[in-house]
Amino acid sequence: MTRIAVVTGGTRGIGEAISLKLKEKGRFVIANYGGNDAAAKEFSDRTGIAVRKWDVGNHQACLDACAAIESEFGPIDIMVNNAGITRDATMVKMTFEQWDEVIRVDLTGCFNMAKGRVCRNA
Ligand SMILES: NC(=O)c1ccc[n+]([C@@H]2O[C@H](COP(=O)([O-])OP(=O)(O)OC[C@H]3O[C@@H](n4cnc5c(N)ncnc54)[C@H](OP(=O)(O)O)[C@@H]3O)[C@@H](O)[C@H]2O)c1
Repeated sequence: MTRIAVVTGGTRGIGEAISLKLKEKGRFVIANYGGNDAAAKEFSDRTGIAVRKWDVGNHQACLDACAAIESEFGPIDIMVNNAGITRDATMVKMTFEQWDEVIRVDLTGCFNMAKGRVCRNA
């Protein structure tokens, strides 16, 4: 049976390469993205890979997205937590809001997706 893979931030950059490699290896890939609809559409048209938009930093959105994917395609076998943002600055220049946004997307996003997948299948 074809294994199902979800790649967060899978439409651009490193995530795009991961999505393409998983597809090449025979997995059914769903690539998540956060806001760039044009880039996601171009990626999906070019590769045939399904794309879905949600914010990995939003806990409920991750639970809902995992439920929707499992209902549409089947249980998620592979989860690649790639989505991330950069707000680099020295400590003096970095604002709390920048710090908080990076933690929310890069770190809490992984927890949110794990909850969405693992706890549904526990
Ligand atoms: N590039 C590097 O040199 C480097 C080095 C070390 C670590 N990393 C890490 O590797 C990962 C990928 O980096 P990259 O350079 O390939 O990034 P990128 O080109 O900026 O692509 C980021 C991807 O993540 C998505 N994304 C961003 N915020 C999101 C959110 N809140 N919810 C869902 N999706 C979101 C983007 O969607 P949209 O297209 O909609 O914006 C895009 O698909 C990141 O975690 C980054 O921190 C990168």
